[in-house]
Amino acid sequence: MNHFINISDLSMNDLRSIIDNAKKRKKDRGKKSNSQPDSDQPFQGKTMIMLFAKTSTRTRISFDLAVKQLGGSSIILNEDEIHYGKGDETIKDTAKVLSQYADILMIRTDSHKDIIEFKKHLDIPIINGLTNLSHPCQIMSDILTFEESKGKIEGKTIAWLGDGNNVANSFIEAATKFKFNIKIACPNKYQPDKKIVNFAKQNNCAILITDDPYKAVSNADCVMTDKWISMGDKGDKNKKKKALKKYQVNSNIMKSAKPDAIFMHCLPASREEEVTSEVMDGKQSVVWLQAFNRIHAQKSIIEWCLK
Ligand code: CP
Ligand code: NVA
Repeated sequence: MNHFINISDLSMNDLRSIIDNAKKRKKDRGKKSNSQPDSDQPFQGKTMIMLFAKTSTRTRISFDLAVKQLGGSSIILNEDEIHYGKGDETIKDTAKVLSQYADILMIRTDSHKDIIEFKKHLDIPIINGLTNLSHPCQIMSDILTFEESKGKIEGKTIAWLGDGNNVANSFIEAATKFKFNIKIACPNKYQPDKKIVNFAKQNNCAILITDDPYKAVSNADCVMTDKWISMGDKGDKNKKKKALKKYQVNSNIMKSAKPDAIFMHCLPASREEEVTSEVMDGKQSVVWLQAFNRIHAQKSIIEWCLK
């Protein structure tokens, strides 16, 4: 069994096999509807428990559909409905109990440390469905989406504008593993996680961190951003938004990237803050495909975890 917690934990072979398997499964489905299972149903008789300590639209629904397409069933729990969220049972005990009921666990929580603690005590694989530190499932889906639009990601250039948050952190790890160039434009105060940036630098990742959004997008094959205020963000929100204002992805920014560059956003978006509606609804945007591909990337992650 394998745990899927951070992209940096996986070998390049495993990461590539997850993407390629996702492409194959997606293609093999042909014109099946989202609720029809794959012909081989490899997850038949198996159950995934999903535990959400934070809000979710895409992760919740796409994992549920992923499990159904693989022939299995899912149980979706919100943190405040179980003892873990109320703090009256240890993570160790919750992990031991969930291991009796299910074959795989997916957790979305504010605390990355909690995921590590769950992993320590589980007898089943765990998937990180977003923490304060990272969002690896999103990035695997984004790589699938990128490659469907622009071919192999290796050697390509992705620009990230705005907050150096959990999604940006996973992108940096992916750039290091898949060997694409990453250029991040953000204010000094809102840079990505230092340890992850150091991991990238130590592993020869072509990473640039700048405070100039135009420098970041020049020659980019893809421009990416995310909400300026993430779930659970503490601190002065207005101050943060003011500092991030010049990193908005708008038509001027898109004109400064490659003419055929695509625009990506993991969603949910705050339209007219980090991205204008003109860009988000424009021809270069692939945001809806990103959301759809969550199903396909996650099916492949589940299969890899159960190996
Ligand atoms: N992108 C993403 O993870 O969306 P949700 O918060 O809706 O799950
Ligand atoms: N950075 C955002 C991503 C949401 C999918 C957050 O953590 O809220």
